[in-house]
Amino acid sequence: MAIKVMSVFGTRPEAIKMAPLVLELSRRGGIESSVCVTAQHREMLDGVLGVFGIRPDYDLNIMKSGQTLADITSRVLEGLSGVFAQARPDLVLVHGDTTTTFAAALAAFYAKINCGHVEAGLRTHDRWSPYPEEMNRQLVGRLASMHFAPTAHNAENLAREGITKGVFVTGNTVIDALEYTAHGEGFESPELNALDFSGRRVITLTCHRRENYGAPMEHIFAAVRRTAIENPDVLVVYPVHMSPVVRGAAHKCLDGVQNIALIEPLSAVDMHRLMARSYIVMTDSGGLQEEAPALGKPVLVLRGETERPEAVEAGTVEIAGTSEEKIVSLARELLCNRAVYERMAHAVNPYGDGQASRRIADAIEYAFKLRGEAPEAFSP
Ligand code: UD1
Ligand code: UDP
Repeated sequence: MAIKVMSVFGTRPEAIKMAPLVLELSRRGGIESSVCVTAQHREMLDGVLGVFGIRPDYDLNIMKSGQTLADITSRVLEGLSGVFAQARPDLVLVHGDTTTTFAAALAAFYAKINCGHVEAGLRTHDRWSPYPEEMNRQLVGRLASMHFAPTAHNAENLAREGITKGVFVTGNTVIDALEYTAHGEGFESPELNALDFSGRRVITLTCHRRENYGAPMEHIFAAVRRTAIENPDVLVVYPVHMSPVVRGAAHKCLDGVQNIALIEPLSAVDMHRLMARSYIVMTDSGGLQEEAPALGKPVLVLRGETERPEAVEAGTVEIAGTSEEKIVSLARELLCNRAVYERMAHAVNPYGDGQASRRIADAIEYAFKLRGEAPEAFSP
């Protein structure tokens, strides 16, 4: 009898990184794959499902405008307990570090169902940053019984917490996702098509993290504003996250500068093509820190730390923090000093080789005795 594997996710980044795995699982004869979305995000999730042609079997539809962490947790726990009772999966897969991830792993534990954590073992070791993601990762590390660590470094983080059983080094599925999206020319978004890119150096900007709400976000935006005004040949393109907190701050600080374009969130295809056309990426996002190095684009990280040190070590990502002066000066260096730019702008792929989904599916088959050998570990 086929083993029942249910993938549970709810936000845009989880969907982008789970989509290649869901497609891989659906090709495995010994696995009956299903998908439950919490819809912690609604529009931003649905866009990704459309790109990958995924139709969820269950949809909890929990999103509310301005939702709190407690709202999300309680609604996911409640919703999933019903779904698990009905579907009785053998394994529940969660991804990354969102509140959906934590609540779904807890719901699986309450239902006595094994949980597999995709993108396990990333750590900053600072419980307040990223907030609440670092704590979500640590708690899911305790709750899960299978841990799909993208890199050897991530597996070492788990080992330091005593988690050594059921750990597989697989690479990150984000690189698998890029293979679906990043190739090809042209944009779908009318807003992108209306922009004049000719002769301009594009800075792709994203900024949405909860630990940056308030003063840090204002400092970041002040730095972006100054950078754009100082460099008229630059075009800053910022697909603004749908959070009302982020939207309010972005429009307050960035409206009225002719070379800053605030646009609606992009499809994953447009986003990856926009990054591929960019000169620099400035971001507090996790996923962009993995995608931009693979595309050969220098990244300034708008946070004080990162749980993804591999590309920093490879020299393509720099931690810029949230101080206005530091961000302005690092951006100036990248824009004005060709040698600095060339040093950072080379493609590196410490996070994956496009085979992560295959390794995760193999590891699941191995754990359920559908295959004799564990998958080989990813090594860059
Ligand atoms: C969540 C994750 C964060 C991840 C981010 C990716 C948590 C605690 N945070 O943060 O780790 O980096 O997703 O984007 O899980 N909204 C919409 N439509 C959408 C999506 C969001 O209107 O499609 C608005 C809603 O008003 C919602 C708000 O954005 O209440 C915030 O969404 P939420 O999921 O709570 O937090 P994010 O900041 O998106
Ligand atoms: N992304 C997208 N459209 C956008 C902005 C981001 O498709 O307008 C993609 C991005 O390429 C990456 C993922 O969304 O794959 C990152 O999600 P986000 O920044 O929301 O969350 P994080 O990675 O910080 O958790």
